[in-house]
Amino acid sequence: MSARYRILQPGDLDGLLNPSQAFGLEVLHGLSEHPKRLSSKFFYDDEGSRIFQQIMGLEEYYPTRCEYEILENNRGDIGEHLRGEAFNLVELGAGDGLKTNLLISRFLEKGMQFAYVPIDISAGAMNDLSESLIKKFPNLTMAGIVAEYFEALKWLSSITDKPSLILFLGSNLGNFSSSQARTFLRSLWNTLKEGDLVLIGFDLKKNIDVMLEAYNDRKGVTAAFNLNLLRRINRELGGNFSLDTFRFFATYNVFSGAIESYLVSKEEQDVYIEAVGQSFHFKAWEPIHTEYSYKYLISDIERLAAKTGFIIEKQYFDQKGYFVDSLWRVRKTG
Ligand code: AVI
Repeated sequence: MSARYRILQPGDLDGLLNPSQAFGLEVLHGLSEHPKRLSSKFFYDDEGSRIFQQIMGLEEYYPTRCEYEILENNRGDIGEHLRGEAFNLVELGAGDGLKTNLLISRFLEKGMQFAYVPIDISAGAMNDLSESLIKKFPNLTMAGIVAEYFEALKWLSSITDKPSLILFLGSNLGNFSSSQARTFLRSLWNTLKEGDLVLIGFDLKKNIDVMLEAYNDRKGVTAAFNLNLLRRINRELGGNFSLDTFRFFATYNVFSGAIESYLVSKEEQDVYIEAVGQSFHFKAWEPIHTEYSYKYLISDIERLAAKTGFIIEKQYFDQKGYFVDSLWRVRKTG
């Protein structure tokens, strides 16, 4: 006999609830767990996205600079892998377009035939990106899609059979656990065709001090980025978090290979959140986990590609060997 009920997990109701209800449900779920946790996907409200732009400009936050260097030095070579065919340049996440501009300008200069298709859940981010790109590249063919990644990719594959180069830059995959990363890449593989290309940014394992400094910046911008999540709960869900009573803490777990970020309550307290109609008790020095930023070995990347149906075509490194943009080709047969 089949079960007549289902236990719902955060994310299951995403299509059924409005964004604020879905946020409230995940906050209720996460703060009821032991240890407490809040998902890093909620960092990016308007203020969070603005603070993240600041992080990318920080002296200590090397991944952005490394990836910029990689794309600047290798954009010609990346273009060669398209084999002269017309293609779709699909970007997962609209971002600020700065790094993608490097690829777009080179591909246009070379007279390559392509449409740029950024996919992002935020209409605001998409509008900003479209306006700046159209000003910069009046001849660019661009079709932004405001939707979930896989929904958009499925739709795209139903209207075009041109090959795709998918960009998933900025070590965004590093915010997924290894099982989430595998599920994500398998789902991506499912929506793609034999021969399509994917360029993925991975932050590599390196001197631990360099990694720790990147998340414990001197100006406290990363701390503000994390604390903004509590401010967002206050604003959108009627929470009464007192930000001064929490401190940010980031550490590197050598065993799991991740920078782990936390907000720690400096005192015993109760925090009420109106939208979920509940108070949450914090003991002094009790943490809320906010983010994993996984760092990779090349062997981890090779294993991940093999397990999810891709062949590694080429790896592009920065001079210091801190970061890699890994170019994968979809293999559907053999
Ligand atoms: C978006 N993501 C890859 C960044 C990272 O490094 O994990 C987010 C970030 N968190 C703190 N600093 C930057």
